Amino acid sequence: SYDAKANIGVVGMAVMGSNLARNLASREGNTVAIYNRSPEKTHEVAKNHPEANFVASDTIDEFVASLAKPRTAIIMVQAGAGTDAVIEQLKERFEPGDIIVDGGNANFHDTIAREAKIAPTGIHFVGAGISGGEEGALKGPSIMPGGTAESYKTLGPILASIAAVAEGEACVTHVGTDGAGHFVKMIHNGIEYADMELIGEAYDLLRNVAGYTPAQISGLFATWNEGPLNSYLIEITIDILKHVDAETGKPFVDIVTDQAGSKGTGVWTVQTALDLGVPVGGVAEAVFGRAVSSKRAQRDAVRALGIERPTAPRVDDSFVDDVAKALYASKIVAYAQGFDAIIAGAEKYGWNIDKGAVAKIWRGGCIIRAQFLNVLADAYAENPNLNTLLEAPYFAQAIRDGEEAWRRVVITATQAAVPVPGFATALSYFDSLNVDRLPAALVQGQRDFFGAHTYKRVDKPGTFHTLWSGDR
Ligand code: ATR
Repeated sequence: SYDAKANIGVVGMAVMGSNLARNLASREGNTVAIYNRSPEKTHEVAKNHPEANFVASDTIDEFVASLAKPRTAIIMVQAGAGTDAVIEQLKERFEPGDIIVDGGNANFHDTIAREAKIAPTGIHFVGAGISGGEEGALKGPSIMPGGTAESYKTLGPILASIAAVAEGEACVTHVGTDGAGHFVKMIHNGIEYADMELIGEAYDLLRNVAGYTPAQISGLFATWNEGPLNSYLIEITIDILKHVDAETGKPFVDIVTDQAGSKGTGVWTVQTALDLGVPVGGVAEAVFGRAVSSKRAQRDAVRALGIERPTAPRVDDSFVDDVAKALYASKIVAYAQGFDAIIAGAEKYGWNIDKGAVAKIWRGGCIIRAQFLNVLADAYAENPNLNTLLEAPYFAQAIRDGEEAWRRVVITATQAAVPVPGFATALSYFDSLNVDRLPAALVQGQRDFFGAHTYKRVDKPGTFHTLWSGDR
């Protein structure tokens, strides 16, 4: 039998779980209970990290007994069936007021359902998005917990003790109730997809239109990283582009298969945005871009047609600056769209989400961490009711400054047959918002013609239908 002395427990001693447990144990004030279905893993983690002073258990009963009340356990096991199995085991043993946290990458719909099922027992269920991968889990992730406000009183300080710190603030906030944390984590990943696609397109243009080598592009990105584009993703891109394959001496980017994988959160973001009716073209094109890259047979079939690609138009040094501006403007659109999805999700699911607070906890620990998020947080702090991020003065100015370059880049890319689905969709989105009349008027006519779906008029109120039969 054990003294109930741990203030926090972690279930699941695979990489993410053990790193999170080590992070927790390294912080003053925490005593960490650990448990894994297969006890060998628990023993190994305890043995390899004597400094961590874990309370290790071989059985779930011992684990639960080792937790001080209110018992608080973070589940870090395989999403889906694994998570459900552990929730059941904890639920049977926990008491009202205890807290079960799912720190995995659950779909927010599942989190909402799990919370609803557990809530009547009086046990708190908290879906917490944890971003930053293995290293983040160990050294400081960005944490996006949902669940009840009451659970956050206990959980908040514990999570704050291990979260990344940005400008003196822990990268954790109570995002909203039930599935809000996993929802926001999903949107984070969607934005991450868009950001990565845009950086990829910028690289492609610099390489295949301007003719720079990967090493040179690394240098250009290093310069960009000193300005508003500064971000973790640009930083790692600098390193990747200058990396040389030891075996062949070739640039690393030339020996990697050009077929991008994905684990699903980008798809979830787009599916959710479709449900919510929020345009997230930046994320969608990023997801589709990875899908296209993986269609080897289709790529081969079209290339076999022998349709010659035009030679890239000559560009001068100003092209580099144009691409930087196009990247920045497109990135702003991607974030504007992502936050639109957060706003729509909050409204649909009844969450009170502080956009500025979300932007702030993404400044550290997570993959999209960047200075940029400070400006974004400021924009929402100044006006929480922005119609779109694009109307905030700072972003409006950035779009104004970059708009011509953005257009030149998309034109040049098209002439050079370099695909830029991310840049192009972002620009089209901006143009759609910025035009007086959209062809949606014609679409309304078509809908009324074949389906009597009716339309509204610009010059008087009411609903109208035209008897189209006379026009054919
Ligand atoms: P990673 O990708 O980090 O290796 P994962 O595959 O997402 O991790 O999850 C693996 C973890 O989930 C392991 O701790 C695993 O326990 P075992 O070591 O006993 O295999 C745990 N896990 C998976 N299914 C589980 C279940 N049904 N009940 C309890 N734990 C489970």
